[in-house]
Amino acid sequence: MSEPRLTRLPQWQALQRHAGTIGHKHLRELFAADPHRGEQLVAEEVGLYLDYSKQRVDADTLHLLRELAAACQLPQRIAAMFRGERINTTENRAVLHVALRAPAGEKILVDGHDVVADVHAVLDRMAAFADRVRSGAWLGHDGRRIRNVVSIGIGGSDLGPVMAYEALRAYSRRDMAFRFVSNVDGTDFAEAVRDLDAAETLFIVCSKTFTTLETLANAHAARAWSVAALGDERAVAKHFVAVSTNAAEVAKFGIDTANMFGFWDWVGGRYSMDSAIGLSTMLAIGPEHFRAMLAGFHAMDEHFRHAPFERNLPVLMGLLAVWNNNFLDAASVAVLPYEQYLKRFPAYLQQLTMESNGKRVTLDGAAVDYATGPIYWGEPGTNGQHSFYQLLHQGTRIVPCDFIGFGQSLNPLPVQGGGDQHDLLMANLIAQGEALAFGKTAKEVRAAGTDAALAPHRTFPGNRPSSTLLAPKLTPHALGTLIALYEHSVFVQGVIWDIDSFDQWGVELGKQLAKTTIAELTAPDEPTLAHDSSTNTLIRRYRQLRES
Ligand code: F6P
Repeated sequence: MSEPRLTRLPQWQALQRHAGTIGHKHLRELFAADPHRGEQLVAEEVGLYLDYSKQRVDADTLHLLRELAAACQLPQRIAAMFRGERINTTENRAVLHVALRAPAGEKILVDGHDVVADVHAVLDRMAAFADRVRSGAWLGHDGRRIRNVVSIGIGGSDLGPVMAYEALRAYSRRDMAFRFVSNVDGTDFAEAVRDLDAAETLFIVCSKTFTTLETLANAHAARAWSVAALGDERAVAKHFVAVSTNAAEVAKFGIDTANMFGFWDWVGGRYSMDSAIGLSTMLAIGPEHFRAMLAGFHAMDEHFRHAPFERNLPVLMGLLAVWNNNFLDAASVAVLPYEQYLKRFPAYLQQLTMESNGKRVTLDGAAVDYATGPIYWGEPGTNGQHSFYQLLHQGTRIVPCDFIGFGQSLNPLPVQGGGDQHDLLMANLIAQGEALAFGKTAKEVRAAGTDAALAPHRTFPGNRPSSTLLAPKLTPHALGTLIALYEHSVFVQGVIWDIDSFDQWGVELGKQLAKTTIAELTAPDEPTLAHDSSTNTLIRRYRQLRES
């Protein structure tokens, strides 16, 4: 087995030496040394403004990071992805979510076959179906129009659709209800349908493999609920559609494959929200807005593919993430959207980032001797300010933050005395970055009249890195660019760490063990257990509790 080479690269070692000097410099010093820093360490591309001046970097850091990217063959790896090479080596698959948003007429070949034409054929079918449902032409089993859409899926077949629906709610059909069921906990399904009329409810069963335990359990529950209410098995044809790569399993479940929207093995689950997995999004916002979202994704794809690294947003964000993770030892990243509609964006990013880069071996299978994917988490501002920001400002851990905000609100709300609540929101976003970077020294605290004993408690160390992303307004197009930005930033990080960002073997063991455990929990007679003593006892205890 080969050794990981990253930490032996001269470019990595140069960054380590450099971290020894700049790592000790305070952001206060960096800003004092260059009065124009806040105007220079910024990039504005495809409608997104990125301010990274509050990252603990200088021109040398950025230069060295770009050298590292070159040594890790980032330009070649980007080109290989866009060419449709099988860069997901452990699954021997191409990685072509970029083809999902390529304009009609563009050609991307997989094994000599143009996949862009296939993408547009599915998009056109989705649009025709969405138009029929939205206009009332698609009727339920007893002739009533569809007013409720319940999307069933989990992981990449759920988090993207939920996030996009919440993000683009302002553009959605308000006379239709959209619900999402993911958890195998029956509560999720029960609460989603409890006030719905089955005659007006369409289920979209989303599963790339169509073998996922949670999704199939919920889909069976939905079919039983629908058939019981409508009194006819034939109702399934009008109330169920599927999104999958697996036509055989869809047919086995009982959904006519004429009502199936396909995608392909070169689309990873967590990269699939702009494929047919986004059917609920299209039903909610309509085909035109959906295509505008795809155009946003594509604009960022083109930027990522062609822009020089100095102003390439995903490259900058990816390299800064590596810098913070590996050279400043920051183990997590907080994503803080100051936009209520993006409330599920951090949850979406958790799968995108951690299922992609939570890996411990290189592409060659060697154990890494450096940290890989950081922990992503977050909440919308200003809510987070009243909970975990205490740790961000004064805790012992450094948590780099991504602030996300917009120039205009989709729901302006005047404040008595002038201004809009949006100004209050954005003032908070801007103030938080400033407070994290510059803090408040003990001297400043004492000068403000604070008692000496209390001064340490009221001192803010500052020097806490953050980036700020701004866009004019949360539109479908802007959402597309934002998601593609993070997708490609994750790719950049994975290339530097020399890992496969597109497989997810780490989710398998728990799934396998659960299969045995299910049989043991439900066996009529006390089963013979051969686990460790903790697992054995938990199984026995659960069996007792379920009978109590
Ligand atoms: O368990 C993880 C996972 O495989 C994810 O990668 C995927 O997004 C999710 O399960 C759902 O898979 P499917 O779409 O095949 O049901």
